Amino acid sequence: MPSRWRDFALEVHFSKWEFAARFNLTASDAESMSLSELLDMASPEDQDTFDALHLGYTETFGAPELRHRIASTYDDLESGHILTLAGAGEGIYIVNRVLLEPQDHVVVLTPNYQSAETVPLSMCEVTGVPLDSEPDWGLDVDRIRDALRPNTKLISINFPNNPTGCIPSHEAFDALIDLCRQHGIWLLSDEVYRLIEAKPARRVPQVADVYERGISLNVMSKAYGLPGLRIGWLACRNKEVLTRFERYKHYLSICNSAPSEVLAMIALGARDRILDRNRGLVDGNARVVQDFFETRKELFEWRRPHGGCVGFPRYLGEDGVEVFTERLVEEAGVLLLPSSIYRSEVGVVPADRFRIGLGRRWVPEALGVMGDWLDARS
Ligand SMILES: Cc1ncc(COP(=O)(O)O)c(C=O)c1O
Repeated sequence: MPSRWRDFALEVHFSKWEFAARFNLTASDAESMSLSELLDMASPEDQDTFDALHLGYTETFGAPELRHRIASTYDDLESGHILTLAGAGEGIYIVNRVLLEPQDHVVVLTPNYQSAETVPLSMCEVTGVPLDSEPDWGLDVDRIRDALRPNTKLISINFPNNPTGCIPSHEAFDALIDLCRQHGIWLLSDEVYRLIEAKPARRVPQVADVYERGISLNVMSKAYGLPGLRIGWLACRNKEVLTRFERYKHYLSICNSAPSEVLAMIALGARDRILDRNRGLVDGNARVVQDFFETRKELFEWRRPHGGCVGFPRYLGEDGVEVFTERLVEEAGVLLLPSSIYRSEVGVVPADRFRIGLGRRWVPEALGVMGDWLDARS
């Protein structure tokens, strides 16, 4: 177990570059919108609620109407199964802290969003199970089965995956649920990129809908493109455990920002419109990215991810991906995330990849700048 927490590599890199680079071509969220654009989508009742909003503390579980609207995004859940949070990051922290004891064991996938492994590693033993990079980052449930120990308490997954964009087949997903059920293992499923899929048929269920020990994590940040709201949630059928999560939240954010709660309600009220817009954007960008890489096959190997707002192509240049991405941001102002950002303490992550974002409106322009830089570089 590490004596001190490892820095969150992605966030450290972003704290330097996210707002300094001209183009964040590695953004994992869909294009956001202005407050007035969102308010234009409000029903007259929601607009009145926003205008009359009282800026006191809010309910620790979340506003009842917000929880109701979130619950209605699941097949079979009610408000009592939802705990709202300050973003999804808080959920990863809470679930691991509440469920795990030093004698427990956790299985996580690699590559991953780093807190998925760093938080449990601060508490107990963690085994990494790699997604199979060839051909398209598949989930091998047998490898998860082989990693299990008698004390495995939790399996942590994230589909569509950050950074690979992979989604398992329905067969693999069902097999994973069966495996968890057979061993009574909790399944934390980070579903923040769900609803942005290249092919809707690939979409897998939300685990809280299909598994009694499934914990679904979601947020307004990614598919909805509203990270500035800092509204996320956990969904779980087990109300006793959900209450333990809520007790832990008392030590963290306590309750949500009142304006953000109402704005999230408005966004959920306009859900189809927002998601359609964002899917269209990602789809269009994926085509532009495909064309870009197609004409530079000697430098890049690209397959469209199954879903989400990011992909993890291979860089074939002799300088290596770390030098390439560093020069690209310093000389052309285009930000990508190299493999080293996804280094894992529990598995080997290919060293020749970089994360590219598909959700921002300026993707074509940023690719143009990147292409010019590539053509001109010495
Ligand atoms: C897979 C995954 N989970 C959780 C988060 C955290 O989301 P938020 O910024 O809304 O807390 C991110 C953010 O990049 C993510 O990619």
